[in-house]
Amino acid sequence: MQMIPFETPAAFADGQARGNPGFAVYVHWPFCLAKCPYCDFNSHVRASAIDEDRYVAAFRTELSHRAGETKGRKVRSIFFGGGTPSLMRPDTVQRIIDAVAKNWAIEPDVEITLEANPTSVEAGRFRGYRAAGVNRLSIGVQALHDADLKALGRRHSVAEAIAAVKTAQSIFPRTSFDLIYARPGQTEWAWRAELAEAIKMAGEHLSLYQLTIEPDTIFERLHSAGKLVTPDEDLSRALFDATQEITEAHGLPAYEVSNHARPGAESRHNLVYWRCGEYVGVGPGAHGRVGIGAARRAQATEKHPEMWLAQVESEGQGLIENVPLTPEEQSDEFLLMGLRLREGVDVARYQALSGKTLRRHQIDELAADGFISEDAFGRLRVTPMGTPLLDTIVADLAA
Ligand SMILES: C[S@@+](CC[C@H](N)C(=O)[O-])C[C@H]1O[C@@H](n2cnc3c(N)ncnc32)[C@H](O)[C@@H]1O
Ligand code: SF4
Repeated sequence: MQMIPFETPAAFADGQARGNPGFAVYVHWPFCLAKCPYCDFNSHVRASAIDEDRYVAAFRTELSHRAGETKGRKVRSIFFGGGTPSLMRPDTVQRIIDAVAKNWAIEPDVEITLEANPTSVEAGRFRGYRAAGVNRLSIGVQALHDADLKALGRRHSVAEAIAAVKTAQSIFPRTSFDLIYARPGQTEWAWRAELAEAIKMAGEHLSLYQLTIEPDTIFERLHSAGKLVTPDEDLSRALFDATQEITEAHGLPAYEVSNHARPGAESRHNLVYWRCGEYVGVGPGAHGRVGIGAARRAQATEKHPEMWLAQVESEGQGLIENVPLTPEEQSDEFLLMGLRLREGVDVARYQALSGKTLRRHQIDELAADGFISEDAFGRLRVTPMGTPLLDTIVADLAA
């Protein structure tokens, strides 16, 4: 992979990017207690207990396979995502962290995040995760409104979610929670009030996602049958603007389209993705981007949990995709990911990756319309006004 260092003196979200966008390990736990009707993540419900020891063995196998391809890297972040990783036993998490540490050097201030659902049973495991080495918990609160939690198919109440956040804050040095807004029937004023409540209980980080109607979900079927009505474009825009205004005013500005943090408390894991660093993904349906030889490769594993397990046990790894990215694919990805960040992208790095220059008149036009800005160090940023049009802006720039 062409590791072109960041060299501009512009301010970075976490002060870490200069010289190295980092290396991270993503671990996917693909099981949930029930499928939420809006969710298209690789999550599966099983009637019988999961054989966690067998999964640990497979994770170990897959980690050592990826380590063979990425010798000499130092791990900046480990992320347990799902699915519902808070269904894992703490000793399962511990053994996977140990396996990561056996395979790579670890940065001294490594971030180890686990995604948790806020039922009381799961909160009961939080201490165990902390003892296993997890130092950041990300909790799926989703709404501070019981009727809406029910409509989202969630299996916890607002009271349980608040209790889980408080428990997490007393155990982990770093916490975050997720909310979904632009929900059916939500007014701007209701969201403003809910967000104000959320900010009162928030620590250093919040993820605030606009509800997306994903293909092949129950919400999509209801939506196309006219039985689930989501906010129109104007209301969505007003909700987004209110989100920026309120979080900014309370010291939790957006550092990415949907992610807000106190300065220095950004998720290092996601920064590795958005800055086009390297990451390996293990577990069913995990993605990776690694530099092997001269190429940056896109990797993805088998999605179906039992098929992934069988493949890892027979072949020593679960990859079903492992392809070099063309310079054009790499540079498109660099723009698409990097322009999500408030720190923006380094135009020189784009040009080095793609071998082509961004068209000056295109930059000037988008800047004149107020959608992007460019600083004296050659960093390009999408403005808050341009953020809802991010995909179109990237397509314009990359054309
Ligand atoms: C991997 S998911 C879920 C993690 C965890 N299992 C949970 O449900 O809390 C990560 C986050 O994506 C967000 N999300 C999932 N589907 C979404 C959708 N259709 N629209 C907007 N946000 C979504 C939710 O906020 C969720 O917490
Ligand atoms: S939202 Fe979370 S709990 Fe619900 S199905 Fe998706 S991954 Fe599972």
